[in-house]
Amino acid sequence: MLFCTEMITFALFFKKNIISKDMVAKIQQLLQEIDGLQAASAEEVEALRIKYLSKKGVVNALMADFRAVPVEQKKEVGMKLNELKTAAQAKINTLKEALAGAGDTTADLDLTRTAYPIGLGTRHPLTIVKNEIVDIFSRLGFILAEGPEVEDDWHVYSSMNFAEDHPARDMQDTFFVEAHPDIILRSHTSSVQSRVMESTQPPIRVICPGRVYRNEAISARAHCFFHQVEGLYIDKDVSFTDLKQVLLLFAQEMFGADTRIRLRPSYFPFTEPSAEMDISCNICGGKGCSFCKHTGWVEILGCGMVDPAVLEANGIDSTVYTGYAFGMGIERITNLKYQVKDLRMFSENDTRFLEEFEAAN
Ligand code: PHE
Repeated sequence: MLFCTEMITFALFFKKNIISKDMVAKIQQLLQEIDGLQAASAEEVEALRIKYLSKKGVVNALMADFRAVPVEQKKEVGMKLNELKTAAQAKINTLKEALAGAGDTTADLDLTRTAYPIGLGTRHPLTIVKNEIVDIFSRLGFILAEGPEVEDDWHVYSSMNFAEDHPARDMQDTFFVEAHPDIILRSHTSSVQSRVMESTQPPIRVICPGRVYRNEAISARAHCFFHQVEGLYIDKDVSFTDLKQVLLLFAQEMFGADTRIRLRPSYFPFTEPSAEMDISCNICGGKGCSFCKHTGWVEILGCGMVDPAVLEANGIDSTVYTGYAFGMGIERITNLKYQVKDLRMFSENDTRFLEEFEAAN
């Protein structure tokens, strides 16, 4: 009797085990089937929904079978069943969305509407002025030359005839790269003069724009970086008169035909004689205003005849050749042209400021 009961229990257990194994296999097969489902119309999607998810659908039928699954396997089979239900629902949704997306997409498009304007952006005022300066000198036969911003002491100072103890080499002015006393950020574009001279024999006629760095506190009137344009002309019989004439032409091209120039004696280690050049104030025409501090003149650049020591240091025979050089700050020229009061405006990237130069582009 006892034996009989055990037999029945065993047979039942065996049957139930088969049920759950069958179910898992079936669910697995259905998952694959669902994954591959396709539909060409909304009706087809609805038919699939009915087949799998309606009351009399495949998933619900399995739910009924689930009751027969032994307790200890309910968890595993139940999870599988849930997975199937979620997968079927997700597939039906995807099929629906795909069909909606493939519908008539032009229905709500107005093809006659004007296009959105594309903002082209504007050139930076410093670039506009740099291009103008370079253009003027290009017309006089100067060609463009550029050099590195991270430089060595030789090209920035030594080759330019700066004495070992010249104050411009002081920590106050020069940025050093990682405490490496020989590698610095160039503090003027005169380093490009040196690079051109060491690699070219005269005649040399170059115009060198670029960014320079000086260790200065940032304010409305000073910045730790700014921009210069340097000019260099070396040939036989180049004289101070040539320099003066070229600079007069530049000033009149840049600031108008009525512009006058004035040269004042000055000092630079790399030029002898040296001068600073003023132009008649372009705001008041030289009558005197607050901009020119009532002098009628404003300073725009430094210049001079290349010191023979500089020619020799850079491999050019100073008994055969002479030359002149000049250098100006692009910010300074831009201020004179557009009266930008605060130097910081140039590097703050305020698009309202930049857009004001749209017309000058
Ligand atoms: N390098 C000078 C400066 O930075 C400008 C200059 C260049 C002067 C060339 C004379 C000749 O102030």
